[in-house]
Amino acid sequence: MTVLVLGGAGYIGSHAVDRLIEKGEDVAVVDNLVTGHAKAINENARFYEGDIRDKAFMADVFDRENVDAVIHFAAFSIVPESMKDPLKYFDNNTGGVIALLEVMRDHNVNKIVFSSTAATYGEPKQIPIKETDPQDPTNPYGQSKLGMEKIMKWCDIAYGIKFVALRYFNVAGAKPDGSIGEDHHPETHLVPIILQVAAGERDQLQIFGDDYPTKDGTCVRDYVHVVDLADAHILAMEYLNNGGESTAFNLGSSTGFSNMEMLQAARDVTGQEIPAEMAPRRPGDPSTLIAASDKARDVLGWDPQFDDVHEIIKTAWNWKQKHPNGYNDR
Ligand code: UFG
Repeated sequence: MTVLVLGGAGYIGSHAVDRLIEKGEDVAVVDNLVTGHAKAINENARFYEGDIRDKAFMADVFDRENVDAVIHFAAFSIVPESMKDPLKYFDNNTGGVIALLEVMRDHNVNKIVFSSTAATYGEPKQIPIKETDPQDPTNPYGQSKLGMEKIMKWCDIAYGIKFVALRYFNVAGAKPDGSIGEDHHPETHLVPIILQVAAGERDQLQIFGDDYPTKDGTCVRDYVHVVDLADAHILAMEYLNNGGESTAFNLGSSTGFSNMEMLQAARDVTGQEIPAEMAPRRPGDPSTLIAASDKARDVLGWDPQFDDVHEIIKTAWNWKQKHPNGYNDR
């Protein structure tokens, strides 16, 4: 039986494909390569280039492959972009999952693990955030993912498609051997941008907002290593294989680091000065996002190996030094 990974050429998807293959799974990948990289896909996976919204293409993939479960990463995920172009997000993320679920239903595939996000909670009512807390997104990206969760719920009731929604907090790092890593165009995420400054590719970091109600006024986020995150998907798939009910899990470290603290950690790891300046707030940013992730640990047996942001940044810096131009395909 085959695991079908949608978005397997992307940053998180490529690490999940890599881990699945390491664990001996048979893997097929679908990716439209709009943001992903063909070079990021483990060579032992079969690759189909196409769009999840193209139902004829997807039906053909399901006809060719003996799909047991789907792991779905194929979505847009940039908060500020979603503020400027919400329909792009509702079309690809929410619309994409409708097309996908139709094809899954028609091919009797009834297990899916997919990327949701901390952004579905919006400005949290309490910290750390629990899975049962209210979901009220402050940006269209979070809303598009919340829509996916709600659609899945009704498709479980109607068609018996079981799902696990994994609500990621802030993902960073790279495979420790530096062979795959993060390569976005344009880059918007804090850790890779800090490392671009460290590498001399940018003059300085802009820190968006220093007047948030946090310890040093800059936003606080909960960082999780991309390989730990990839492993959670495999555990979630095993949970569904064992008859688990549809549910959602937070994936974070339960610890928050401010943007200033992340900058300092990167200065420690790289030994570079990394100049920075304060800049206005970025629209759509919640001030603090920290996960309660006991549920993933208790129910899935998730045991993240990277619990220190220095270690996370070290793996991202290793990837950056080995691949100064990323996958060099843009
Ligand atoms: N930031 C800066 N300067 C930059 C880039 C980012 O100060 O040049 C700040 C942001 O304003 C924010 C923090 O760094 O305060 C983290 O920003 P990222 O863009 O790295 O990540 P986000 O928190 O916006 O979003 C990420 C993922 C989302 C996910 C969210 C959940 O991109 O998909 O984490 O916590 F939903």
